[in-house]
Amino acid sequence: MEFTLKAVSPETAKTGCVVIPVTQGRCLTASAQALDQACEGQLSRVLKCGDLPAETGKTLLLHGLQGITAPRILLVETGEDQRVKESTYRAMVRAVAQNLDTMGSKDALLCLTELEVVGRNGTWVLEQTVLTLREQRYRIPKQTQEPRPVSIWKKTILLSPAGVPPKEAQAIIGRAQAVANGMDLTRDLGNLPPNLVTPTYLADVAQSLGKEWDIKVRVLDRQAMEKLGMGALLAVSAGSHQPPRFIIMEYAGAGNRKKPVVLVGKGITFDTGGISLKPAPEMDEMKFDMCGAASVLGTMRAVAEMKLPLNLVVLVPTCENMPGGGATRPGDVVQSLSGQTIEILNTDAEGRLILCDALTYAERFNPEAVIDVATLTGACVIALGHEAAGLMGNDDELRQALQSAGDYSGDRAWPLPLWEEYQEGLKSNFADMANIAGRPAGTITAASFLARFTKKYSWAHLDIAGVAWRSGKEKGATGRPVKLFCRYLIERALG
Ligand code: BES
Ligand code: MN
Ligand code: ZN
Repeated sequence: MEFTLKAVSPETAKTGCVVIPVTQGRCLTASAQALDQACEGQLSRVLKCGDLPAETGKTLLLHGLQGITAPRILLVETGEDQRVKESTYRAMVRAVAQNLDTMGSKDALLCLTELEVVGRNGTWVLEQTVLTLREQRYRIPKQTQEPRPVSIWKKTILLSPAGVPPKEAQAIIGRAQAVANGMDLTRDLGNLPPNLVTPTYLADVAQSLGKEWDIKVRVLDRQAMEKLGMGALLAVSAGSHQPPRFIIMEYAGAGNRKKPVVLVGKGITFDTGGISLKPAPEMDEMKFDMCGAASVLGTMRAVAEMKLPLNLVVLVPTCENMPGGGATRPGDVVQSLSGQTIEILNTDAEGRLILCDALTYAERFNPEAVIDVATLTGACVIALGHEAAGLMGNDDELRQALQSAGDYSGDRAWPLPLWEEYQEGLKSNFADMANIAGRPAGTITAASFLARFTKKYSWAHLDIAGVAWRSGKEKGATGRPVKLFCRYLIERALG
């Protein structure tokens, strides 16, 4: 999708379709009034017929209005008011994208950026427009024999919102495109089947990102991990025929004296639960158990394309959790890279095991902050549903920054406490700790486990079990929380 900025009037624009917001079925917005005048009130007369319900996101397509250059006008309802809520704005853009996707028009002029969004400025409106359009246009990579319908809509013309100079607007569009490209990658990796997306595959993706975007990439194999002493990660990998990988990516956008931000993503390419086997229903969805990894790879791609002036390290511990003959047993005690020993009471609590070794590894980068992201606990889906990621950590400021990055980008995270008292349940009679506590507060006790490995730096943890993918008819990866990460990093780098 190509986006261009043009200062054109809706009535004379040479484009296949002009998209106009109307409010309660009336021509109240500037663009609607301009059009209505040009066609001598034809637009208001059509609206009076009542075919466009005064409901947010409803659309009506009109053809051949007199006195208007474009052959099509797509009306989209704001609902109550011209000043709209964030969620309303996004819903409108989504509705527009759905229409344009199946229309016979190659290009369109969107007059939506003239709308006022409560509490947000023109920069936000422009960025969200591009991101939402791109998100809506994403197609799942499908392995089908019938050819897929392609949209002929390729070009979108946008108006610079009030208060945003064209040059600035161009930069915003460029960054939003980079974030969208990162999200597409994240979604593709999540959606592709687990017989394709193996640890080796993820490592190959990292290597090719490295070549394309000039990022330093190293990949550790099992032998190298054994030598280092990543006993926790290797214990998870033990029941699988797929060799494990540990991916290290270093993007240097700010010279080598500046401390890096480190992102760590859980890369379980399939989670059967291991010997603590999961039940059969919906087990296919455990192919999404590498969405944390996919999101940090997508973020890395976006940051490199944006050329953000900061240093970023991405770590991906990746393996498959299978119940093969060599698999780790409940009761096994292993030693982590940190030296601390772990009694594995449930092999299905594997995410924290691969993460703890990666979190220890992160120390060597002398990080400014370390953020891990993982589809870690089913309990997080119970606590927060599919709206927000769980957010925990040991640094209030970092947590705040992530929460507000999520609010801004519509990719929300919500805090849960991480008090010392929650550590109690992780005690073991046989090792420094167990890998599970009881049923209560499962999301928090999982994070409490990780907290034992993150004492040396500022750390935050995002549990994305509820937000990384959708189930049912809409099954597929969402690309979250790439938008949150990118917003956080843009803010950090550009202020
Ligand atoms: N990958 C799962 C978490 C998960 C489950 C995410 C369902 C989304 C939907 C994780 O590895 C896991 O199995 N966690 C266990 C932990 C338990 C054994 C303490 C869980 O949540 O049941
Ligand atoms: Mn599991
Ligand atoms: Zn898992």
